[in-house]
Amino acid sequence: MCGIVGYIGNQQAAPILLDGLSRLEYRGYDSAGVAVYNGEVIDMVKSKGRLKVLSELTHDGEKLPGTVGIGHTRWATHGSPSDMNAHPHFNEDRSIVVVHNGIIENYLKLKKKLEKRGYAFVSETDTEVIAHLLDYYYKGNPLQAITKVMHRMEGSYALGIIFQDHPEELYAVRKDSPLIVGKTKDGNVIASDVPAVLKYTRDVIFIENEEIVRLTDSSMEFFNVDEETIEKEPVRIEWDVNAAEKGGFEHFMLKEMYEQPKAIIDTFSPRIKNGQICIEELGMSDDDIRAIKKIMIVACGSAYHAGFTSKYVFEGLARIPVEVDLASEFRYRDPIVDKETLVVVISQSGETADTLAALRESKKRGARVLGIVNVVGSSIAREADNVMYTWAGPEIAVATTKAYTAQLIALYLLAMKFAHTKGALDDRGMAEMIEDLRVLPTQVEMLLNNKHKIQKFANRYLAAKDVFFIGRGIDYAISMEGSLKLKEISYIHSEAYAAGELKHGTISLIEEGTLVTSVLTQKELYKKMISNMVEVSTRGAFVLAVTNEDNTEVEKAADYVVYIPETNKYFTNSLAIIPLQLFGYYIAVGRGCDVDKPRNLAKSVTVE
Ligand code: G6P
Repeated sequence: MCGIVGYIGNQQAAPILLDGLSRLEYRGYDSAGVAVYNGEVIDMVKSKGRLKVLSELTHDGEKLPGTVGIGHTRWATHGSPSDMNAHPHFNEDRSIVVVHNGIIENYLKLKKKLEKRGYAFVSETDTEVIAHLLDYYYKGNPLQAITKVMHRMEGSYALGIIFQDHPEELYAVRKDSPLIVGKTKDGNVIASDVPAVLKYTRDVIFIENEEIVRLTDSSMEFFNVDEETIEKEPVRIEWDVNAAEKGGFEHFMLKEMYEQPKAIIDTFSPRIKNGQICIEELGMSDDDIRAIKKIMIVACGSAYHAGFTSKYVFEGLARIPVEVDLASEFRYRDPIVDKETLVVVISQSGETADTLAALRESKKRGARVLGIVNVVGSSIAREADNVMYTWAGPEIAVATTKAYTAQLIALYLLAMKFAHTKGALDDRGMAEMIEDLRVLPTQVEMLLNNKHKIQKFANRYLAAKDVFFIGRGIDYAISMEGSLKLKEISYIHSEAYAAGELKHGTISLIEEGTLVTSVLTQKELYKKMISNMVEVSTRGAFVLAVTNEDNTEVEKAADYVVYIPETNKYFTNSLAIIPLQLFGYYIAVGRGCDVDKPRNLAKSVTVE
């Protein structure tokens, strides 16, 4: 993962670099560093720990003079988080400096070759290989050295590079890791992602694979790997920089939870026209839709959970068989997809390496690929045959909330559209579902406003060792997401289980006081679920139930009940997730965890 930034212009570079990095910390935050050309040599400061350590060391960058520089915030892959492994990395005489996001897969081979030629390494990173390799090929022409190095490297990279004897230039290049360029009023910037540059410019250029950028304080040039000049057009970013600020909330996660009603409206409203669902960007005729034999949903993390939920919706409503797969598994299992399969890849960032690889694999096999993506212009958005955006706005907290919610909405719309086109959903059914979607934002808001009750409940479980989440059918899908929310930010072990499966092993873990969260939103499964709840409570579990308002029967089997308002049976996850998000959040807050930046995680996972 990692975030990179670079600046060249008339202003002092370091404060701009640190400011940019502060907006990229979601990409990794175990160490950070900057390198700036000070007029004579390249200065570098880097340190293990959060960006604030680096800010303190450099007095917010002021201690580092110079108007051209690069910066990095790291999520360790090769080499533990340490001062030495932090980026930037130099060649031996400190005349070439590099920041890198990605993984050089053949770095060991390259390292051995370089060591034989006398190069000495000081870090355990794959990145240092790049600095030495550039040194090896550099004969006075930076562009030539970069293209030569590109031919030798296997893997993924976005690089920012400065050559000390070309201090009026800043270079950048990418392959399979995101990179953008922007023109500011006094210079030019590079970054891994848009929020890092939004303060300075709204017009950004997305760099494609194997493209090289040469910036000066007043010019931008783009080259392909054959060193030929290419033309690139900027894209206007419409969303507001304030969307990436905390706006009075204690954490981004809480703020983003509160943005869920808006994310629902923004994802849903533009696609309803004259009482029908209209997804123009789908690019599929009614005949194309009717010709779909199978839907294959591929994603990672919470996006996978959203996909898993939608399996029940697509199959139940549209009667199209759906397979859901983790992207990291899909790509290595010789998947059976062909031109009659619609592959739906879901991704908030649009940069998740495994999901991107799954997309490419599916296209290779002839399938049509639809991306459900939040970040406009991201790699998945650009490479998918068609892209349906979730309009959740920028999401900063590592634990996703509003993007997940918006993914569910996009998937519901798609399933409803397919069902209607196939004749499995009539106009009346469609109208009722659209009406239910319309009131969903208000219902979500109502559940959010009950947050103090959830907080009070969560405070009783701050010392929990294990928490289980159980549900059946669509409620199993929501249990998976609830469990992930809790464990990723509070570090409490939790597992989601299909309720009927618990008795095949996992029930042996239930002891006096173990918390079991049961989700029951499907009327036809109430009775079965209540039996499963009794099974655990008779073994000492404390049972928290999340269920529909009409299911007061549940109180006989649960110790604590959270009710969700009535909605269509396919939309219940959108409501049931709210108390579960709040529960995870308040447990993490109560335990003093770093809610927005949990340990060992990163938001955008651009490594395999
Ligand atoms: C990371 C994030 C998760 C996210 C997953 C997939 O693990 O922490 O919140 O669900 O990546 O990311 P994507 O950007 O593809 O949705």
